[in-house]
Amino acid sequence: MSRAVSVSLQKGGVGKTTIAINLADALAARGNDVLLVDLDQQGNATEGVGLKDAYESSESNIGDVLTDDDPIDVHEVIRDRESFDVLPSHVDLDDIEDRVRNSTFGVLWVRRRIVDPLLDDDYDYIVIDSPPSLGPLSDAALIGTGNVVVPLLMSEPSVSGFERMFEQQIGPIRREVDLDILAIVPNDLTGNNEEKRIIRDLEDSPFEQFIPPFARSELFDDTDSKGPGIRHRIAFSRAWRDGKTLREYDPSNDMLDRLDQLAEIVERGGTDDA
Ligand SMILES: Nc1ncnc2c1ncn2[C@@H]1O[C@H](COP(=O)(O)OP(=O)(O)OP(=O)(O)O)[C@@H](O)[C@H]1O
Ligand SMILES: [Mg+2]
Repeated sequence: MSRAVSVSLQKGGVGKTTIAINLADALAARGNDVLLVDLDQQGNATEGVGLKDAYESSESNIGDVLTDDDPIDVHEVIRDRESFDVLPSHVDLDDIEDRVRNSTFGVLWVRRRIVDPLLDDDYDYIVIDSPPSLGPLSDAALIGTGNVVVPLLMSEPSVSGFERMFEQQIGPIRREVDLDILAIVPNDLTGNNEEKRIIRDLEDSPFEQFIPPFARSELFDDTDSKGPGIRHRIAFSRAWRDGKTLREYDPSNDMLDRLDQLAEIVERGGTDDA
């Protein structure tokens, strides 16, 4: 079993990078060979796993893979790391995105240059951290992986961002190629009434099937439970600052179990039969 997945939403600060890093780590903890790909020019995933030097490096980088001009083999720019490998972002990724936009087949480069050569042969799972904008890199990630995990804050702007993404990006891509939503992941929850209302609204919507069991509204009323979703835990940002995954930073954190459940959903290819 192998799968590539992008963690995407055309909205800033919802937890794409946090989920991508820790999903990659959870898949690795389950015994898989995993590659984390940072396709965001901000390089937050790269920095968050302690590879800031690669982001600023003048050596070969992801830009030499995503080019018409004599591309290099993707293996040359992969960094080994404890638990999973990383294809780092680069400070020049904005220019690289222009190239992807201006080349006829640029939007297929992620599939043809990264996913196809590596999935199965080198890795069981490839997890891509996407930029927060609609654009050629984010399209290329969705088309290249054929699967998406959507982190969502339980706030109105975040949900309407997802609805827009569904109409403007996921829908049009789906008319041409396969693209499955594996899960919608409510993130950074603290337990306020707005969160309750939005989770219940999602459960009454056509997106209900994408809400994982650990994010269901019934957990609000379960007194033994910490509440639904990925909870607000300061350890996520502290781990990031230390260049570590949550599991490396705080091996007893109570969100590791939920990240493991998310990894299992990705392995299974969706929330069905959960
Ligand atoms: N569950 C959580 N608990 C506490 N802090 C969190 C949680 N999830 C994310 N954060 C923090 O929120 C901020 C935004 O998260 P993150 O960078 O993962 O979002 P993003 O969607 O990747 O942002 P961008 O759109 O800029 O790429 C970070 O500082 C991160 O540490
Ligand atoms: Mg990010």
